[in-house]
Amino acid sequence: MNKNEAWKRKIAYQIYPRSFNDANGDGIGDLKGITEKLDYLKELGIDYVWICPVYASPMDDGGYDISDYYSINPMFGTMEDMDELLAEAKKRNIKIIMDLVLNHCSDEHIWFQKALADPNCEEAEYFYFRNSENGAPNNWRSMFGGSAWEHVGNGRYYMHLFSKKQPDLNWENPKLCEKLYEMIRWWLDKGLGGFRIDAITHLKKEPTLSSLEPDGDDGMVACFGPTRNYPGIGDFLTELREQTFDRYDCITVAEAAGVPYEQLGEYIGENGYFSTLFDFSYSELYAYGHAWHTCKKAWEWPITWLRDKMFASQIETEKIGFGAVYFENHDYPRASEKFIPTEYQSDISQKMLGTLFFFLRGIPFIYQGEELGMTNTVFESIDDVDDISTKNHYGLALADGLTPEEAIKAVNRYSRDNGRIPFPWTSGANGGFSDVTPWMKPHPEFARFNAEDEAKDENSVLSYYKEMVKLRKSDEYVEALSVGSISPIMLDCDDVIAYTRTDGSKRVAVVCSFSPVDITVNTEIVGKKLLLANYKDATLPENGALALAPFEAIVFEI
Ligand code: GLC
Ligand code: CA
Repeated sequence: MNKNEAWKRKIAYQIYPRSFNDANGDGIGDLKGITEKLDYLKELGIDYVWICPVYASPMDDGGYDISDYYSINPMFGTMEDMDELLAEAKKRNIKIIMDLVLNHCSDEHIWFQKALADPNCEEAEYFYFRNSENGAPNNWRSMFGGSAWEHVGNGRYYMHLFSKKQPDLNWENPKLCEKLYEMIRWWLDKGLGGFRIDAITHLKKEPTLSSLEPDGDDGMVACFGPTRNYPGIGDFLTELREQTFDRYDCITVAEAAGVPYEQLGEYIGENGYFSTLFDFSYSELYAYGHAWHTCKKAWEWPITWLRDKMFASQIETEKIGFGAVYFENHDYPRASEKFIPTEYQSDISQKMLGTLFFFLRGIPFIYQGEELGMTNTVFESIDDVDDISTKNHYGLALADGLTPEEAIKAVNRYSRDNGRIPFPWTSGANGGFSDVTPWMKPHPEFARFNAEDEAKDENSVLSYYKEMVKLRKSDEYVEALSVGSISPIMLDCDDVIAYTRTDGSKRVAVVCSFSPVDITVNTEIVGKKLLLANYKDATLPENGALALAPFEAIVFEI
């Protein structure tokens, strides 16, 4: 596994395959569709492409419920299509990162089917089955709501931390682990660039599986305490690394929620389990309250929250290793919805948000459509929604007395499906995504943001992203902007998030204003050269002051 190499100077891009590009005209994105668009990614300057799960799956949770790790979901194509994608990507120097789901599989996986049929078979030990006379074996609540246990008859239950179609795999069982390692090596032998590893902090469960003090009216308790980064998980993760990733030239990006900074070294330090990880501390700020309809909107919380959390993450990570930075992924609404009030969402504020995350210390992950400045979409009713967690939160809103109209509005804002709708390639029919009606409604405003038109417009968000990539990779600034150290600046101005990136004598400042009006920031910093800005007439700091237009972003050498 690769810890100290070139990947730190690279750019990554995340694809939600079902909605990226439909090559065979069935309304669903597919692997051939990705291959067709490799030149688009190349043009953007992408080095690594993370593809959300394309394995065989009943698609209960967008493919994170895998029924066969060794085959491709026919909806996305065939294994030949996968091999072709790998070969074509290689020609363009692009590495493919697949999603690796190890905490659970699908209830339609043959292992689980065997386990259901025969409680005494080997496969039954691959899962968490328990017998209980009086309802669920404990009071843990699953991530998607409701009990983490499902009854299969005769007082027999199995555990699922996510949906009930995602039974948890029992990592205490060595035979299961060996099967999973074999599968991982099989994929790496194909020449993958690495894996993004799903929900990996959940592998170890509190061994007695005891009930805990309830934290809600439902008598249940969130399953985080007893199942997230639980002591002993390190043994699993060390063996996983030794048996698989260590033997290949690959990178591993862990989805590692719930790792305190004191333990970061175990995960991504010199001998850590993974190359890098996604830290959620600053991307989930809005998520206060038990359900989406009670969560805060952009600016109901101060921007300094974001700033404090983001810099804490950056500074702690720099002490230990190298992070993976992002604002959007397939589990979030569009970033603008989290950080910018609706009336101020514009190309300018989109470029500002892009600037802010893109030059942080870490490998940047651009999420499909982010580079076009896509905003949230509009779901007219719950029938427009596919995502299991959105449906769950819609139910919570109804149960709280909201009307269906109010409930859909409330969940619209945070729905994961905002990022899962078809990618707008052109202003033509179906946004050029497909020749037929797509599996989900395209964004109503794709005429305003689509790849074809934006590529021709030098002021578009897409053109701006290309400039950001070029700058970050330029010979002159690549060291400062990738591995260079980070320091917050201009902390006495609450409307601004600003930092410097430094490598030796090269110092670059990145300043982002969240103010909707003109402001002036006092600063002793003297600008030497303007490198990038989201306004044409941007100016460098002068006489101890920097003038910033609404939502201005400016990058300059000091
Ligand atoms: C991760 C995925 C998410 C999925 C969950 C269960 O958080 O990103 O989409 O629902 O794991 O696999
Ligand atoms: Ca298709």
